Amino acid sequence: MTAPVAFDTAPVIAVEEILDTPCLVVDEAILRRNVEEMAAFAAGLGVALRPHMKTHKSPQVARLQFKAGAVGATCAKIGEAEALVAEGGVSDVLLAYPTVGEPKIRRLLALMDRARVVVALDGREAAAALSREMVRAGRVLEVYVEVNTGQDRAGARHGEEATALAIDLAQLPGLRVVGVMTHEGQVNESAPDEIDAAALAAGRAREETARQIRSYGLNARDGSLGATPASPYTPTEPGVTESRTGTYVFNDNAAFRHGRVGPDRCAARVVTTVVSRPAPDRAVIDAGSKTLAMDRSPSHPGHGYVVGHPRAEIARLSEEHGVVLLPPNEPGFAVGDRVEVIPNHVCPVVNLMDELHLVRDGRVVDVWPVTARGKVR
Ligand SMILES: Cc1ncc(COP(=O)(O)O)c(C=O)c1O
Repeated sequence: MTAPVAFDTAPVIAVEEILDTPCLVVDEAILRRNVEEMAAFAAGLGVALRPHMKTHKSPQVARLQFKAGAVGATCAKIGEAEALVAEGGVSDVLLAYPTVGEPKIRRLLALMDRARVVVALDGREAAAALSREMVRAGRVLEVYVEVNTGQDRAGARHGEEATALAIDLAQLPGLRVVGVMTHEGQVNESAPDEIDAAALAAGRAREETARQIRSYGLNARDGSLGATPASPYTPTEPGVTESRTGTYVFNDNAAFRHGRVGPDRCAARVVTTVVSRPAPDRAVIDAGSKTLAMDRSPSHPGHGYVVGHPRAEIARLSEEHGVVLLPPNEPGFAVGDRVEVIPNHVCPVVNLMDELHLVRDGRVVDVWPVTARGKVR
């Protein structure tokens, strides 16, 4: 474990233009470095990178990831995948989310005409419906068995429960089990010095389950996992063939606590304007919950980190107001001043924005649409 990073070391992206606010700026140099280093790390281990694209929802960022060596995309919802297949050069996609319901299956079949699609499954009901429709359509759908290795969200419990599920799924016509996946997202809740152990335990539980599944003669060729805080650890585990990290492209305030990632690696910042100074210790910025989202950071109090102001706290949000509590005589908070906020959790913030302003050396060089924003179906 490296020492925790200091909050006050974050460089301001310092956009020269007067952009209307609130807006999301992305520093191109930090973005490229994040993309390239993760790709090089995965390549060095011989692990394929299939980044989760829910973080950026952007065809342009997807293309950067492919250029750096990503082999495919991970998406949650079909809508996200549809948008990125249409515009982001995605031709191979994992839907790492249960695909349930007739409308979804119809869209899945259409998506399969345009890209290779693998779906994660953690239950028999969803599997039976997919099997029926694949047979009817004369198609075969590749499937990862989703295993719960401690996150306690979706997934069949690692070990016997997941093995029994894999055996049942393998009997279903129209489905082909090709892998065993987990999302070791529980590491987001781990203390900084316990992340490595928690990550490696999840990786071992996944591989142990895959071994059991293979012992029944089933093909569980692919080993898929990924969560940004775990990304230095879990891809090194035996049996892992692909990493699905997502947040690493931008990083966020929650990532600081992992020690490895400092604010200087946080590419995405919300630029906001101070719109009111109702009291000496209180400023209001034009970014509320409809901009910053409501996620908390385990590493820093409040609703985001105000770059360059480590003692300022975005203490409350209403929809369009961010109430910032200030230490005595804090400069930089006059009405009209701009402040940069590193969001607590960047993924929902991106989903609230129409576009990303790409900044190179202080200048906006491009505006990228968040094409898959709002694609929650
Ligand atoms: C199934 C799945 N895989 C991968 C990821 C990527 O995790 P992270 O954003 O921490 O890299 C997520 C994130 O929510 C996920 O839900």
